[in-house]
This record gives sequence, C-alpha cells and structure tokens, in this order.
Amino acid sequence: MDVAFLNGNWEVLAASDRELVTTLVDAGQQHLFADWDLPGTADEAKATFLSSLSKIDGNYPGGLAGYISNAQKLLAEAKEGGNPFEGLIPHQPNTVDLTQFNETYDHYEALGQKQFEKTGIVLVAGGLGERLGYKGIKLDIPVEVLESTPYLKHYASCLKAMEARMENPRPVPFIIMVSQDTGPKTLQTLEKNNYFGLQKEQVYILKQELVPAISDNAGSLALKDKYELILKPHGHGDIHMLLHTSGLAAQLEKQGIEHLVFIQDTNGQVFNAIPAALGVSVEKGFDFNSIAVNRIPGEAVGGLTKLIGKGQELTLNVEYNQLDPLLRATVSPEGDVPNDQGFSIFPGNINVLIIRMERYVQILEKSHGIIAEFVNPKYTDETKAAFKKPTRLETMMQDLPKLFSPEEKVGVSIFDRCWSFSANKNNIADAAAKHVAGGPPESAATAESDFYLAGRMRLIASGAKVKEAAEELILGVPFVNGPKVLLRPSFAMTLAEVREKICDCSISNEATLILDGKDIALEEVELSGRSALIIKACAGAKVVVMGRKFENEGFELVQLTEEELASTHVPEYLKIRGYRFENRGAAIYEFDEPGEYMIEA
Ligand code: UTP
Repeated sequence: MDVAFLNGNWEVLAASDRELVTTLVDAGQQHLFADWDLPGTADEAKATFLSSLSKIDGNYPGGLAGYISNAQKLLAEAKEGGNPFEGLIPHQPNTVDLTQFNETYDHYEALGQKQFEKTGIVLVAGGLGERLGYKGIKLDIPVEVLESTPYLKHYASCLKAMEARMENPRPVPFIIMVSQDTGPKTLQTLEKNNYFGLQKEQVYILKQELVPAISDNAGSLALKDKYELILKPHGHGDIHMLLHTSGLAAQLEKQGIEHLVFIQDTNGQVFNAIPAALGVSVEKGFDFNSIAVNRIPGEAVGGLTKLIGKGQELTLNVEYNQLDPLLRATVSPEGDVPNDQGFSIFPGNINVLIIRMERYVQILEKSHGIIAEFVNPKYTDETKAAFKKPTRLETMMQDLPKLFSPEEKVGVSIFDRCWSFSANKNNIADAAAKHVAGGPPESAATAESDFYLAGRMRLIASGAKVKEAAEELILGVPFVNGPKVLLRPSFAMTLAEVREKICDCSISNEATLILDGKDIALEEVELSGRSALIIKACAGAKVVVMGRKFENEGFELVQLTEEELASTHVPEYLKIRGYRFENRGAAIYEFDEPGEYMIEA
C-alpha cells in the first residue's frame, strides 16, 4: 500500500493500528485518514480515533470491513429499489386465539406455568425514548402512582413470582439490553434497590454499541470531524448479536433454558399474556411465537403475515403501509379487509416474542447474530445518488424469522389488546393529539389506566361484580379512575389462581384493591364508592378476608395545577401524567410475620 496519503503518520503507527488502517483503506475508507495533520500535531486525537475504530471493529461480527461490505450490498439493493415481497403471496399466519378467558385460556396458562422453570426473560431497554422526552430512563418510571412501582421493579416482581410457582425453584435468567444512554442508570437503579429482590447472578446486562454512519452509496463512513466518526443506534435487533457474541444464548441453553421471552421497556401488561403464550409455544412447538393483538385494517400497526412463494414460507411483520399495497397487488384487490368481527386477518405485532432456544442458538451461530440488517437512506432526489444525511445499518428483533428455513415453526398468539399491551411512549401533548386523531395515546396516563383495567379483567374472570368509573380527560388524555385493581404478581400469575383466591366479591367504580402476597384470600368482600383495601402479606402469612364491607374515602385523584406542572419540585413522573393520588383513609393491612390471619366483619 502506498502510505503517502497518511502524511508521514504511517511511520509512527503501532503494528496493530497499521493493520486496522490497511483493512479500512482496502475497504475504500482512505478518506478517514486523508486529512491528517503531520506527526506531532493532534496525536492524542489520532490515537483516540484509532482506538474508537478498533473498538467498533471488535464489536461487530466480521469487523468494520464486514459492516462496510454489508452496507455496500444493502445500499446497492436500496438504490435498485426492488420490491422485497416480489413473488410472495400473503396468507393468514398460524394463529391461536386467546382473546377470551375460557377453558382454552386456562389450558395454555397451566401449560405455560409449568414451563417457567425453563424460561428466560430478555428485556430490550437501550432505546432513547425521544417521543416521551423523560429525563431519566424509562425503566425508572412508575407504571402506577398509587404505590409508584417502577417498570423495572414490576418486571422483577414478575420474575420472582414465576420462581415462586416452580416445582423446583430456580432464578429466572433476566437479560437486559442497555445502551450507552441507558446503561449507567439501569445499573444504578438495580444496585440502589438491591436488584429488587432478584439475585445479582440471575441478571445479565448486555450493552449495545452504536454503529458508524454512512455518507454515500459506496459505504463511506461519515466523519463528524477530522478524527471522529458519526455513530448511530443499530436498533433492538442487536439483542440477537449480543446474545450470540456474549455466548449467553448457548450458555443458557446448556443450563436447560428452552424459551426466551423478549419484552420491551414500558409494557406493564406483558406478563399477563406470557403464561398462556408460553403454553402455546410448548404445545404447538413454535420456534418463534409472536404475542399479538387484533388490528383493524389500515391501523398503523405492523401486520403478522405468512408469505409464501419462491420456495419459501415465512411469517413476518409487514409494516401496515406495505401490507395494503401487497394485498392489492396479489390476493385482495380491496386491500386489507375486515373479517366478521371487524379485524384484519393479519394480527397486529406488539413485538413480544417467544423464541425456542434450540433452533435459535443454531441460527445465531450460522448468522453470527447479524439478523436481517436493513438500510433506509433518505435520498436527495430520484437519481438516488446522494443522501440528505448520513444513514446506517439497522436491525429489528422481530425480523429473526427472515433467517428461518421451512423447518422452523412460526406462530402467532392473539390476546386482548388492553390485557397484553399498553406502552408509555408519548409525552402528554402528543398523546392528547393522538387521542383527538382517534389513535392510541400510549402515554403514562393511559398505560396506568390500562394497568388497572387488566386488574379488573382478572377480578371479573373470578366472577366478581365490578362497576367501572367513567372515562375522563386529563390534559386531553383519557383516563378511567377505577376501580383501580392491582393483583400483584406475588398474588397471582394465572386466572386459575385468582379464581381460587377471590370469591363472591364486588367492587365499585372509584374503589382501589391492592393484593400483594401469595396466600391472601377474599370471600364476600365489598368495596363501595371510593373505598380502598390494601393487603400485603409476606411469605408464610396466610390472610383471609371474609364477609366484610369496606367503606372509606380511599384514594382521591388530584389533578396537577398549572404551577405544579411547571414546578421543579413536582416529580417528572407525575408531570408526564398530570395527576397524583392522595390517600384519604385507605384500609391498609400489612403482615410481616408468617402466621394465619383473619379479617372479618
Ligand atoms: P421504541 O420504539 O419505543 O423506541 O423501542 P425508543 O428508542 O425507546 O423510543 P423513541 O423512538 O426514541 O421515542 C422499542 C423497544 O426497543 C428498545 C426500547 O428500549 C424499547 O424497549 N430499543 C430500541 C433498544 O433496546 N435499542 C434500540 O436501539 C432501540
């Protein structure tokens, strides 16, 4: 290689740096070094630059040369603008309908509960959360503000509850993917809270790295300045790469883990659906099972679609704006049309995935964990010769089936939407605008409202009489103030458990019921008006509440004033909802000692 372009720096480079520079120049990246100062000037900046290149090279399977060649290939395809669905015909995917709480539901929950022992939970939590605009990490935000339970604490309680229901208890592996934006705070929260009762050893933190931005169709890496690359997020598909490169997927498989459940940072409902969905994965032998919801045709949610053609059969998430044209061009001239119940036959993807380990580990080995990367450059004009701004390769975790062969079984488990999914993604103003436009607001308030609704759904399934409050608007965002029911994971993980423990109860519109503990039972209990009953029982404390009517002032919802919304003294987690609750006399029972307790009339 002619090293004259390095302006005399070649001679002072270490052997490993020379190797890296050579690799990059061979990959068409000479511009990265073309403008270097003479040796003796900016040497520290040069060293930092080389060390960052070396780090990125080490992080990406196939190194920077691999990243660049993948980019060149994908950019050429993007320029050509081929139809990714050419030759593929859309069909309804293999679905199991779990939208009703019936015998089928109970059957799958029972099966799923047995599988807890062989299940790991993977939480992708590297996202910036720009739409929400919360200053801290999303995992720290309380999912509800009666007791202010952060998402991370709630998820940890679910893992503890899974363990408590195992025949041979073992800690559920908990893999959390973070990024440089979320990593330090996630760790800080875990440490500060003693891992929320989890064992430190069961928690695995994997950090996703940024990838270099690309400035042109030739795959040239983009510079921020002379000695610094522009770096961008690579997407949540990184989780597959990290589970492979860390060796963790293979290690967990060896330890007997058969399924991994992939969840997101702010979905308080997700563990409602996991037991039954796990049962489906086990019984149907699905290698990849998407937890999904019914969607109305045209709704802005990706549709899970079986695509058949070119010797392939793939079940994939197809973005809603691609699904309709695909249907029109193939099997349905009217596009995506409703079935008898008004839903599309292509269920809505909520990106909760259950993946069977056996095939997963093999696919990771084969692909080195690089799962269906894509590139989405914004071109300056239709010649597609230049980009408006640098782009990068991205990956999405739901695209794993793109690497499947016909042997892998892919299926979809459809759940009631409020039961399985309610995210906290949008700030109040955007959430209110989405509500006006008829879409889901997906804000802190709606996530909390749905969290209570899922509790009510459990109570109703136990046969309880439940009277709902009317929906109100708080800063333009809809909220239903009750009954606010929190049946904590410690109390029940399945509907069968709720039925066993709650009998002949009734609860009125703005009442509150919180049950936390495995051995609590309620019989002929009534909560009237705004009354609140909270019971917390430690392991070994058996509590029976029988024939009791509670009448108290419970919790009052208080909307934040203009001053409070602007005040730096009011916590941000309240300001993103616009209200707080004040305790006006809730009945609270706490049992910290094992024993038998009775609360009677
Ligand atoms: P979102 O679509 O909510 O994106 O991610 P986001 O980046 O968190 O939020 P916005 O778009 O900036 O408002 C879905 C899930 O994927 C995770 C998020 O943490 C969330 O759980 N994610 C996203 C990652 O782990 N890494 C990424 O690079 C992107």
